Formats: sequence, structure tokens, C-alpha cells
Amino acid sequence: MATDKTFFLETFGCQMNAHDSEKVVGTLEHEGYRRVETEDAADLILYNTCSIRDKAEQKVFNRLNDYKKLYKQGKRFAVLGCVAQQEGEKIFERAPYVSIVAGSASYRKLPEMLVQLEAGQKRITGLDDRQTDETFETEFTARTNPYRGYITIIEGCDKFCAYCVVPYTRGKERSRTSTSVLNEARRMADSGYTEIQLLGQNVNSYLDPEGKQSFAELLAAVGQVPGIRRVRFMTSHPRHFTREIVEAIEAFPTLCDHVHLPVQSGSSDVLRRMNREYTREQYLERISWIQAAKRPISLTTDIIVGFPGETLADFEQTSDLLTKVGFDAVFAFKFSPRPNTPAITMDDSIPDGEKSSRLQALLDQQRETQRAIYNRQIGSILEVMVEGHNPQKGQIMGRSSQNKTVNFTNSQLILPAPGSYVNVLVTQGFPNSLVGEAVTLQ
Ligand code: SAH
Ligand code: SF4
Ligand code: F3S
Repeated sequence: MATDKTFFLETFGCQMNAHDSEKVVGTLEHEGYRRVETEDAADLILYNTCSIRDKAEQKVFNRLNDYKKLYKQGKRFAVLGCVAQQEGEKIFERAPYVSIVAGSASYRKLPEMLVQLEAGQKRITGLDDRQTDETFETEFTARTNPYRGYITIIEGCDKFCAYCVVPYTRGKERSRTSTSVLNEARRMADSGYTEIQLLGQNVNSYLDPEGKQSFAELLAAVGQVPGIRRVRFMTSHPRHFTREIVEAIEAFPTLCDHVHLPVQSGSSDVLRRMNREYTREQYLERISWIQAAKRPISLTTDIIVGFPGETLADFEQTSDLLTKVGFDAVFAFKFSPRPNTPAITMDDSIPDGEKSSRLQALLDQQRETQRAIYNRQIGSILEVMVEGHNPQKGQIMGRSSQNKTVNFTNSQLILPAPGSYVNVLVTQGFPNSLVGEAVTLQ
């Protein structure tokens, strides 16, 4: 390869993948590669992939198909992430022009893989059999947002929900020490970050290898790092959701007023078959702790519609749970049968049209719930972290502590910079965003 080595990277999937990509970029840059914006301009084309649903998996094969002609021009392809770990060497059969296939547990070996690639090796793999204790820590993270920084505190998953690929694609659960998490948080605060998001497939299953801190204690400690104004955490699993977490949020205003707590279904029967290990009642109990908090905490969730055997009565329980809780946002998808998972052998006989109409009914219901929730915020003053500007609309965009999108105008002449915090009076509500006016610049 030429001395000016370039790479293109596209990321699919969740926040963990997005953050892994920041670390991959940092690692590649340290190895002398320069990032470019298009496949055509790159020597090495990498896709960091997602396999959570079939549609997500197909995206990478579509991309590879679109760009395979570039192989003849000497460009090389790498498939990273969850599809890589799941499909392994089968990817070389399906797409012979791919040179590297690596799952997330082997990114520490990327520098070696690049040496092999540059030596002309053809089928380079970094695949893991779930046994590793390694986490992907690197000093070379190329963070893309200068105000909001991500820290993965726990990788992998040991829950084995019947429908889910993650335990197979990301390996067993392993946490970073609280000392290393806090050191990173302090370094980030020193370099100007004011918002930290703690990440994990089940962030609250965090188990400090040093035995020093529980998840709630770690949250509180990160919330007290000087300079940090906002701490978020994603995703919480209901099974390990404790009152201590709610108490930490109450005690430390830097911990954001938002919990993402995926329920998947409102029917205990479906939950049991999903292997979620909690009942509808236990989930609602956790919700009651959150809703009893001293300040309002926004709640969001994930739903799977049409899991094998979901009856109309089961589905109605989900719809009823949505009404009872009043979520601020719901991410609902139709069940997608996935390789290696127990649910792939279950009787998936609900017709697709029926799944679609259940999904649509939930989304319609949720839209009305959100319309009411967002309208209730009219008249309140929210602290908004500025993310950008929309010159066409003359609006400034940002997010509230509850993670709601706020578009606002500012009668003062100064345009608040991205990363700054502005108090906004809410004047209008839509099902997915608020509109308002800046009241003070801080
Ligand atoms: N660890 C988190 C969720 C991670 S996966 C938790 O347990 O709550 C993100 C979401 O993808 C899940 O909450 C689920 O709603 C959805 N999902 C996972 N597997 C799926 C499948 N096979 N079909 C449809 N949706 C799925
Ligand atoms: Fe998947 Fe369940 Fe693990 Fe969440 S807890 S990542 S849904 S196996
Ligand atoms: Fe997708 Fe893997 Fe994340 S399957 S959702 S990228 S953990």
C-alpha cells in the first residue's frame, strides 16, 4: 500500500458499535491511516456491522455488493462487528473480496491484522469463542463529539434472551474496573467534555472487577467528577434495576432524568418464553420506583411485536402496559428470527401482515401518548445542551436532560455554541420534539 494509507468506515447498529468505531478509528489513525469520507477515496473499506434483526444484517451485504468492483482497483475490505462474529469465515465464501473478518472482542489485534493485510495476506480473521475477558480499551479513541463522550463500562451479554444474537456476537459479560472508568471520566472532563454516557448492553449488570463499586455507586461517582454536567447510561436491564439507581439519580442532579428500560412484552407468559427472567408485575414495580422519584424521570423502552406464540391477549397486555406507564419514547420492532438463537426453532406462525398491524397499532397509540406528554411540558423551562443550528429554520437544536429534542430560537444576537447549556422556555410540543425560546445564556 502507498505511504498515505486511507480508510473509510461506516457503522451500523447500536451506540456500543458507534463507540467501538471511535476506538477503531483512533487505532487506525495511530497505525498511520487517514480517514476519508467515501469508499472511492479509500484504500481500506471497513464496515462495522449489526446483526440484531435480519434487515440490519442485510445492509452490510448490500454495501459489499455495491462496492465489490473497487477490489480490482486494489482496495481492500474489512467486515467488523456483530455480523463478522456471527458469520465468521462464511463471509469469505459469500464475499471473497473481503480480507478481514473481525468481531468486537478482537479489535485489540487490529494493528497485527493490518500488518498481515499489508503483507498481502488474504483471509485474516479475528474471531472469538466467547471466552475472552478482554475489554476493548485503547488510548487512541477518536471521539467524534467534543462535548458528549461515551465510555463502555461493560461488554458482552450473559442473559441469552431467546430471540437475541448479542450473547453470541459480543461474548460473555465483562466489566471494566471502576478505577479505569473514573480515570477516563476525569480525563474527558479535563479535555472539555461535559456529558458522559456510560454504555453497556446491560449497563446495570456492571460488576466491578475490583469489587469497589456497585453500578449505582459508579454512577454517583461519575456524576461527581468536576466539570461533568450530565451523565447518561444505556441500556438498563429490568432484572438488575435497583432502587439504589433511582436514589443515585435523586441525589445527584448531574445524573440525567432518563431511564431506558426495555420491557419487550407486557405479557408475563411471553416474557417467560423470551427468557427475560422478570414478570410484568416485577417490571411495573421497577417503573413505580422510578415514577416515585423526587424529580420526574423520563422513561423509554423497547418492544418486540409478534414473538412466536404471541396471542392477541398477550399483545393487548403490551398495549395496556404502554398505557399504564406512559413512556416518553418506544422503540418497537417486529420479531425477526435470528441464527443461533433458541427462538429460531419456535413456531413463528403469526402472519407477517398481522405482526405489521399490531406494530402499527402500538406506534399509533404511542404517538398520542407522546403528544400528551410533550404538550405537558409547555410553559416549563428546561436546560438544553446545544447540538447544532438549523440556519434555514433559524433554529438552534439541543437536548434536555430527559433526552428530548428541543428546537429553539434566541432573541439575543449571540448564537450559542454547540456544547453550551441554555435555559429554554417551552412554547410548543410535538410527539417527538419541543419548541421554545432561550431565556438566559449561561
Ligand atoms: N440488552 C438490551 C437490549 C439490546 S438489543 C435489553 O436486554 O433490554 C436492542 C433491542 O433490539 C432489544 O431491546 C429488542 O427489543 C430488539 N431485538 C433484539 N433481538 C431482536 C429480534 N430477534 N427481533 C426483533 N427485535 C429484536
Ligand atoms: Fe439481547 Fe437479552 Fe442480552 Fe439484551 S439481555 S442483549 S436482549 S440477550
Ligand atoms: Fe447490533 Fe451488535 Fe449492537 S447486533 S445492536 S451492533 S451489539
